[in-house]
Amino acid sequence: MNQSKKQLVELAVIILFILGISALIWNITPYSSMPARVAPTTGTTADATPATANQVPADKQWSHGRELFKNNCASCHNPKVAQTGPALIGVTKRWEDGGSYQGKTGKQWLYAWIKNWHDPVDAKYPYAVGIQNYSPSFMNTFTNLKDEDIDAILHYVETPAVAQALP
Ligand code: HEC
Repeated sequence: MNQSKKQLVELAVIILFILGISALIWNITPYSSMPARVAPTTGTTADATPATANQVPADKQWSHGRELFKNNCASCHNPKVAQTGPALIGVTKRWEDGGSYQGKTGKQWLYAWIKNWHDPVDAKYPYAVGIQNYSPSFMNTFTNLKDEDIDAILHYVETPAVAQALP
C-alpha cells in the first residue's frame, strides 16, 4: 500500500467513525426530547378536555359564552383587539385590580357594569368612572344577562386562543 492510499483509508475510517457516532447520538435522542403531542380538541368532546393556554376549550360554558358574545358584544368588542370598546382579554383582572368599593369586589362591579354600566358609574366606582371615558360611544345595557351568562362570556373572552375561533 503506498502513502496516499494509506491516507485515503485513514480518512475513510475517520469519516465512518464520525458517522457512527452521529447515528448513535441520533438514536439515543430521537423523539424523547420533543414536546409531547397535544391531541386536538373538537366540539364533540364536551367537558372532557381541559384547555391549555393555546388550545380552544370545547366545554359547553365556552360555547355558550361565544354564542352570547357573538350576539351581544361582537358589534363593539373583539376579545383581543380594541374596537369601539376595549379588547376584553384580561378584563377580569383589570376590574379585580380596581379593588373593592362600597362592599363590592372589583369583580362584582364588573358584573354590574356588564348588566348596566350606569350603576358603577353612578356609584362613582373609580375604575368604572375612568373606563367610561374610553370612547365617546356608550355601551348597551344587558339587564337580561344572568351571572352564569356573564361567567360564560368572560370564560370565552379570557381564553388566549380565542382569536383562532372567533364567531
Ligand atoms: C354599542 C357598543 C357596545 C356593545 C354592544 C358592548 N359594549 Fe362593552 N363597551 C363599549 C364601550 C364604548 C366601552 C368603553 C366604555 C365607554 O367608553 O363608555 C365598553 C366597555 C366594556 C367593558 C369594560 C372594559 C375594560 O377594559 O374594563 C366591559 C367588561 C364590556 N364593555 C363588556 C361588554 C360585554 C360583555 C358586552 C356584551 C354583553 C358588551 N360589552 C357590549 C361598547 C359596547
